[in-house]
Amino acid sequence: MASVATLTNSELDELARKVDEALAAVRTLSPEAQRPALDLKNAIEAFHKLGLTKIIQRLKEDPRGKELLFELVDDPAVYALFAMHGLVREDLSVRAARVLDTVRPYMQSHGGDVELVSVSAETIVVKLSGSCNGCSMSAVTLRNTVEEAIHEHLPQIRNVQVAPNEPDHAHADADSAKAGFVPLGSIAGTPKLDHGWTLGPPAADVQEAVPFRWDADSTSILIVRFHGRLQAFRNECAHLGMPLDGGSIDPESGVLVCPWHGFRFDCASGECLTVPEAQLEALPLRVEQGRVIVRTAA
Ligand code: FES
Repeated sequence: MASVATLTNSELDELARKVDEALAAVRTLSPEAQRPALDLKNAIEAFHKLGLTKIIQRLKEDPRGKELLFELVDDPAVYALFAMHGLVREDLSVRAARVLDTVRPYMQSHGGDVELVSVSAETIVVKLSGSCNGCSMSAVTLRNTVEEAIHEHLPQIRNVQVAPNEPDHAHADADSAKAGFVPLGSIAGTPKLDHGWTLGPPAADVQEAVPFRWDADSTSILIVRFHGRLQAFRNECAHLGMPLDGGSIDPESGVLVCPWHGFRFDCASGECLTVPEAQLEALPLRVEQGRVIVRTAA
């Protein structure tokens, strides 16, 4: 077998399967016989969780460490380890959107684009536009690019489905048809877009490291910009659900501090730095024609 550092996803799956089989075999034993094995398992897991928690906390204190941590979490093996110990919350839509972000420049350089429609435990639905449409060789290649990225970074997702394009929208406006989005010029007020997406404020209104509150119908949303990158969260603190828009963001570390009881959050990921198990609810966000668009419903 390859060294641990170079294990493939299928080899990792094999290791996980062996662990599951060993555990299942232990559970067939009498309670007395099970106890030493389960005690050993629990002790090793607690030991690992303690060490991992300290490593994560230390990395989060340093901007370079935090960047490295986010890179590490993109590795399926690291993510699985953190998830096993409850150190990351499984937010598939945010992870899926990030994976699509990695292929978007390539897609756009070939005249195409990709949009996340929905993601569930095993299935992701995307919408492809531009030169991704049709059955030409380049369209097939672009679709394969999306599938390969999903399979590499989110191996738990088994099905990649492509949602049909909507001709009425796709041809209503030349630019928008090219991008595959609903034309903003045809939208008045703050209507719902397709698939729970809602038109928000101009992206330029959201200043660096200044919490921005935007109320979309019955949903209060917090939009933050850190190092130029926009993120949206439900405007509810993970502690007692109070609004976060009166809080502050440290421009150096990107730490958002709740104004009510001082819980601290990483404003890039929503992770709570005060209580590791807590997390802000991230909402998928995209910017189109200078406007922020957030998905507020599934
Ligand atoms: S409500 Fe945010 S810290 Fe208590």
